[in-house]
Amino acid sequence: MKKNLLVVVSVLLVAAFALTACATTATATPTETVAAATTEAATAAATTAAATTAAPTASGKIAILLPETKTARYEASDLPDFKAKLSDLGFDVDNDLIYSNANQDASTQQSQAEAAITNGATVLVLDPVDSDAAAAIADLAKSKNIPVISYDRLIKGSDGVTYYISFDNEQVGKLQGQALLDELTKEGITNPQVVFINGSPTDNNATLFKKGAHEVLDGKVTVAKEYDTPDWSPDKAQDEMTQALTALNNKVDGVLAANDGTAGGAIAAMKGAGLTQLPPVTGQDAEVAGIQRILAGEQFMTVYKAIKPEAEAAATLAYDLVMGQTPDASLVNGTTNNGKIDVPSILLTPVAVTKDNIESTIIADGFHTVAEICTSDFADACTAAGIK
Ligand code: BGC
Repeated sequence: MKKNLLVVVSVLLVAAFALTACATTATATPTETVAAATTEAATAAATTAAATTAAPTASGKIAILLPETKTARYEASDLPDFKAKLSDLGFDVDNDLIYSNANQDASTQQSQAEAAITNGATVLVLDPVDSDAAAAIADLAKSKNIPVISYDRLIKGSDGVTYYISFDNEQVGKLQGQALLDELTKEGITNPQVVFINGSPTDNNATLFKKGAHEVLDGKVTVAKEYDTPDWSPDKAQDEMTQALTALNNKVDGVLAANDGTAGGAIAAMKGAGLTQLPPVTGQDAEVAGIQRILAGEQFMTVYKAIKPEAEAAATLAYDLVMGQTPDASLVNGTTNNGKIDVPSILLTPVAVTKDNIESTIIADGFHTVAEICTSDFADACTAAGIK
């Protein structure tokens, strides 16, 4: 475990001045040793303080359990951002972080959580495949005094959930619905026929996205066909859209797709059915492929959720908990009822993205670089959209 720099320097002062190096466990780099040994400003008081303040040590490992790999965000953003923050805090991610991905299987996730606990995890960061089934994991953790951070998706029906970190997910659905409605109105389509391709029925977020979208669109459009997409699978979304097109004789004015993966599936189905003029399609996650489809005019919008602050907040909480420290109360900005308790929550704000604000959101934030988005096939579209 790497120590916080201040603690390292303080411990080295003890080593240098009191010659008690053999009694410490500090592992300093030569640079830090020199810096410590030559710090003129070091006072005896600091030395005394260091000698009496035990360096905090981790009580065990942190486990991060993610739900799937078909959606790019988890391994492209959530995991690396989480690891980077833990490293910055001084946590030994190489030895003390356990990562598992359930590939959309709730029972796999249950086994992975049990294995993580057996292998020494004392904090779980859990993004559940199934928001209800994951209660068993949180209950098990609670029986062993292991705190659980419900990451991005809510774990329902358990009082073993310590924190919940996510976005305002109903707002995600509202942003999708409103962007679609605005575009359909702009195109002058009266009584538009909209197909809803929702997310996984086991994901509480999918329920919230759907709720938000319906709040905006119900009564303003005809919900011509609606599907919940098992596992959020893009392939299944493609099948659903193909069915809808057949049933509706290809007359679809708009598609409310819950994320970029399902949007990609719906767009593939429409192209496969020979549609030359694609209707507006929503999305979510601001995946590179989604942004590129927006630039190419195939997808109308996406919802950008800044994963970095989400993953960093999870890392900060997990670090404090594994070190036996109480997380700073100011990190929390609300509570969320999970059917059993009010879970202290950190809720972040999603942003709607169309061609017009790709640069001022995703690129300005460093979520994706121009080089990642504007590959040769999209270079002209990038120029036309003013992205450079
Ligand atoms: C997440 C989305 C993601 C979807 C599929 C949701 O719970 O919030 O960002 O696209 O799951 O993994």
